[in-house]
Amino acid sequence: MKSLTNSRFSWPALLTENAAGIAFGGDYNPDQWPEDVWAQDIELMKRAGVNVVALGIFSWDRIQPTEDTWNFAWLDRIIAQLGDAGIAVDLATSTASAPMWLYKKYPQVLPVDKYGHTVHAGSRQSWRPTSKVFREFALEMCRQLALRYGNNPTVTSWHVGNEYGWNNRHDYSEDAAQAFTTWCENKYGTIDALNEAWGTSFWSQEVRSFDEVQLPYHMGADSMVNPSQQLDFERFGNDMLLDFYRAERDAIQSICPDKPCTTNFMISTDQCSMDYQQWAAEVDFVSNDHYFHEGESHLDELTCSDALVAALAQGKPWYVMEHSTSAVQWKPLNARKRNGELLRDSLAHVAIGADAINFFQWRQSRFGAEAFHSAMVPHAGEDSKLFRGVCELGSSLKTLSDAGLQGSTLKPSDTAILFSAASEWATRCETLPSKKLSHWHDVLAWYRGFEDAGARADVVPLANDWSDYSTVILPTVLVLSDSDTERLATFAKNGGRVIIGYATGLIDENFHIGLGGYPGAGNGLLRDMLGVRGEEFNILGDEDQAIKLSNGAQSVLWQNDISVRDDVDVLATYTGEAADDWELNNIPAFTRARYGKGTAYFVGCDLDRAAIANYLGEVLQTESVTTTNLLHTVRESENAVFDFYFARAETDLALVCLPQDAQVLIISSAQKSSDTDNSYALNRNGILITKRGR
Ligand code: GAL
Repeated sequence: MKSLTNSRFSWPALLTENAAGIAFGGDYNPDQWPEDVWAQDIELMKRAGVNVVALGIFSWDRIQPTEDTWNFAWLDRIIAQLGDAGIAVDLATSTASAPMWLYKKYPQVLPVDKYGHTVHAGSRQSWRPTSKVFREFALEMCRQLALRYGNNPTVTSWHVGNEYGWNNRHDYSEDAAQAFTTWCENKYGTIDALNEAWGTSFWSQEVRSFDEVQLPYHMGADSMVNPSQQLDFERFGNDMLLDFYRAERDAIQSICPDKPCTTNFMISTDQCSMDYQQWAAEVDFVSNDHYFHEGESHLDELTCSDALVAALAQGKPWYVMEHSTSAVQWKPLNARKRNGELLRDSLAHVAIGADAINFFQWRQSRFGAEAFHSAMVPHAGEDSKLFRGVCELGSSLKTLSDAGLQGSTLKPSDTAILFSAASEWATRCETLPSKKLSHWHDVLAWYRGFEDAGARADVVPLANDWSDYSTVILPTVLVLSDSDTERLATFAKNGGRVIIGYATGLIDENFHIGLGGYPGAGNGLLRDMLGVRGEEFNILGDEDQAIKLSNGAQSVLWQNDISVRDDVDVLATYTGEAADDWELNNIPAFTRARYGKGTAYFVGCDLDRAAIANYLGEVLQTESVTTTNLLHTVRESENAVFDFYFARAETDLALVCLPQDAQVLIISSAQKSSDTDNSYALNRNGILITKRGR
């Protein structure tokens, strides 16, 4: 695999002897507690093996209690105490949540929603990313912190903002409207180009000058926003926040150039706030917040999200900035983690390349909106299963550090599932053939299909260079530009295997449909590669109407009514009563075409993961696929190989036979199953981590 590098990469030091080790800790909010709790905090941190905390994320009002006064004394004291205890600080800019005095005196910084209502202060991120007034206050805070703590040896990294876009992703204020005009002008140059890209001849939307360009405000209950404009609005919001992040980072690094900056991304398989492929190039190390999805997909969802984070980190270690020890408090029903899941989730992140495991938060709040969110020290105190679990995790991470895991790299797969933020935004658009369409959903289904087949796949941004993989899969990559279609064609011509999903390549980057039959990407190039031509979609969405395929699979959402070229192999067709009823009988569902030295597959309908796993027999060129409950990943250093094994299923045992020279480092909820060979059985939440020589 091509080794990729991030030219900015720099990993934060710990306060250990050689500055190394796997980082372990959490968000720390000492300003929400009386100072006499701090000593106890630090004593418990030491007991748990905590070696870093993210400090001051929401402390702006404590640091700058009025416009003209600064109070660093408390921050000086806690940083000194942490430093004395050997605990490094990832110091926040504290700018995610501004003080009430600022909002009161400068209400012009407050965002506006699409209905024109002001978003009031009192929660977090109640500020316009495009407000010049707000930016000046935030940058002054960054400079003040950098001046005071830039040379402090306990502060080893900077935590810029917090989850950019959590509450101000879509701002419809006057400032935003003006900035959008400028953004459009920079992007399109001429108003004709914008009219062309947005297809404004539809519904009399043509604009004569950039002054007439507006934000996609609420236009009435049943109104439908121009999807091209909507997609640009998503890009614009991403760009404004990224610009804000850069300004904060630069304000710090102009004073303190040597310490790495990060900001915590929000990647999980139901979220796509930002186009993080762009953000990854602007952070010194990639960090992510991930909150578990309870239920049978728990572990697979976690590792699928992580696969994208790992791809963004480009072969470098990355940081779990937040996850939870147990329940959150922001879902309608907040499931807790069961025995072993705290350890299992944390080590699963490590298995996908994380070298830092942090939580939200250190001590569970007594008051405020997050009082019922779990933490490392729960309301029950240190004498609790949860705190004992935290200590167990601390000691496991130390074992892995001591064994030399830090800095080892995740072994890449030879298959890349391609992810595109624009496609995820586009599938959320309201005017598609089916509102059930979701890019992330289908990425996860393919990812799980691969895991079921015992063959892990990577999840890689479409914009990256994936040309060294042997197979690329594009599940519902709705948006395909001409140039991306050409990249695919070159890849296949050179011998690559391309798998195109049922709703891939239907629109270009402007949300224009490619003509001549589906999928129209690249002016027909994608159709050429596949040797298929679709005329209509058959949209269902109801389990009861599922359409069967000749290979035993079934489709419930979307089937393409296609014809195929003579030289194309038809691997399965639609069949049965429902197919008859919808006039799809014998229409090809899976096809394979030679293209140059490679192969182009078309999967003409949605499939569940079991059908995908079966289908992989063909793709992976094995007779049949034996499904497995075992997740296996590998991290490699110069002279060692670390194998990570996890039980994926809730009930069935997962079995693994270890190589003879494997030394067991961590074993949990697993036992040796045979005295004669080196095989182990993993139970629910089972973990086995081993080390062997290279
Ligand atoms: C994140 C946030 C944290 C905390 C956490 C709760 O979105 O960054 O501050 O609110 O969620 O799950």
